[in-house]
Amino acid sequence: MFQTPHWYQTAVFYELYVRAFQDSDGDGQGDLQGMIQRLDYLADLGVDCIWLLPTFPSPLVDDGYDIADYYGVHPDYGSIADFKALIAAAHARGLRVIADLVLNHTSDQHPWFQASRRRQEPYTDYYVWSDTDQKYADARIIFVDTESSNWTWDEVRGQYFWHRFYSQQPDLNFDNPAVQEEMFKVARYWMDMGLDGFRADAVPYLFEREGTNCENLPETHAFLKRLRAMMDAEYPDAILLCEANQWPEDVRPYFGGDPTDASVPGDEFHMGFHFPLMPRLYMALKRGDRSPVADIMARTPAIPPNSQWATFLRNHDELTLEMVTEAERQWMWEQYAPDPRMRLNLGIRRRLAPLLDNDRSRIELLNSLLFTLPGSPIIYYGDEIGMGDNIALPDRNGLRTPMQWDAGFNAGFSTASELYAPIVADRTYGYQRVNVADQLSNPTSLLLLIQQFITTYKTQPALALGDIRFLHHPDRAMLVFERIYRRERILCLHNLSDRGIAIHAPASHDLLADVDWSEGVMTLPPYDYRWLKVL
Ligand code: NOJ
Repeated sequence: MFQTPHWYQTAVFYELYVRAFQDSDGDGQGDLQGMIQRLDYLADLGVDCIWLLPTFPSPLVDDGYDIADYYGVHPDYGSIADFKALIAAAHARGLRVIADLVLNHTSDQHPWFQASRRRQEPYTDYYVWSDTDQKYADARIIFVDTESSNWTWDEVRGQYFWHRFYSQQPDLNFDNPAVQEEMFKVARYWMDMGLDGFRADAVPYLFEREGTNCENLPETHAFLKRLRAMMDAEYPDAILLCEANQWPEDVRPYFGGDPTDASVPGDEFHMGFHFPLMPRLYMALKRGDRSPVADIMARTPAIPPNSQWATFLRNHDELTLEMVTEAERQWMWEQYAPDPRMRLNLGIRRRLAPLLDNDRSRIELLNSLLFTLPGSPIIYYGDEIGMGDNIALPDRNGLRTPMQWDAGFNAGFSTASELYAPIVADRTYGYQRVNVADQLSNPTSLLLLIQQFITTYKTQPALALGDIRFLHHPDRAMLVFERIYRRERILCLHNLSDRGIAIHAPASHDLLADVDWSEGVMTLPPYDYRWLKVL
């Protein structure tokens, strides 16, 4: 009954922003050749797969999520030859690479849009045009801080066009079979080059239908299933990771198969982000109460045997509060974003370490949950060393500052006198204090601990593949669950409070401390955690 797991079911992912990683040519921008120079760091860290943020030609209104050419590389980053070299260099180190596939929209600078607004065939119907801006009124606005409508008037065409994000990002018209074919071509082009799959951006919004909120429509699922079928037939090792910021029951159909029978293999996405879990980790920690985590996991349906959740603590966007109640959102903003500049749209634009007041024990605790709860963990670049952010920068740029490699000039990121963004240089998070080189040589650093989490995770299939069972503890601040796989059980203990809590633990091997525990009562110190392999 147990099948050999697929690679992505046991993988650790690393989300990487090329512009921030390493500048190889001294222009102040990270690039693909620079990234190649830093691949050994990622291999040593132990991650399995890199997720690249968009590297396509783009006017960068949405930092590359506004694509002007699906077949190229942004000149800041290099060339197609560099991209090929990157994939080869990654594969040579046993690292896989997936990249963003932005299906839903293009840049308004894309030649398709330029032709479409002039009604030039075959592009006339590549986008969603309308004489009125009253259609699809039930669709919410996502970028609420900048957009007041999902429609924008186009002078050239004399019609409105539909867009779910910035008005410079017109939505493609997936009702047009030619658009669907274009996306198949794009996907094939990158997989032919050796790419190991895609993080598919904004998938709930591909189709529009009057009288609906235009999310998760059956037509959208049908298209995605066709894309998956093509990949299964032509690129069986490549994956699709679903970005659908939705409730677990609404994400479940994106895995495909039979939502009422988890033994039926999935035929849509291989992986899906678990968005609602993420803010609840922060909520549980701040409240010293496990319920938000336990409740959302109880509400999480089983997924097909060939699928996996993707879990994360932070990413390149604001910490989204879309999947919480209005009251919870207000509370999260009060607790985690006291300065209005920390807020963006329905979220919080801060990094992991600052969100947790740079408190080492709480940073460890959330990372421990990332590695022990179900799902493949995704590390956001820089969070493995506890990098800070810069709320003075606009939009989400403050979360995308240069990687801090060492305490030298420009943190070892670049030799340029001017960088795309300032390096964080404040007293707490500045590169003089927070950098890779120091942490590599400090046995108690966060970086080496994360490396240990990864190594341990890899030797324990139960953490990646096991079922989860929550156990009761009278103190709500004690989060206790088991991961169970075949005959193995790992008991995971997390103390969400600032007090010691006693717990009866079975005879076990403490995986992180590498010591045995004979059955009895242990007191877990404030914010401490244990991964206990039950003997
Ligand atoms: C989700 C991406 O994560 C975000 O950065 C982007 O702005 C939107 N999709 C639109 O593409």
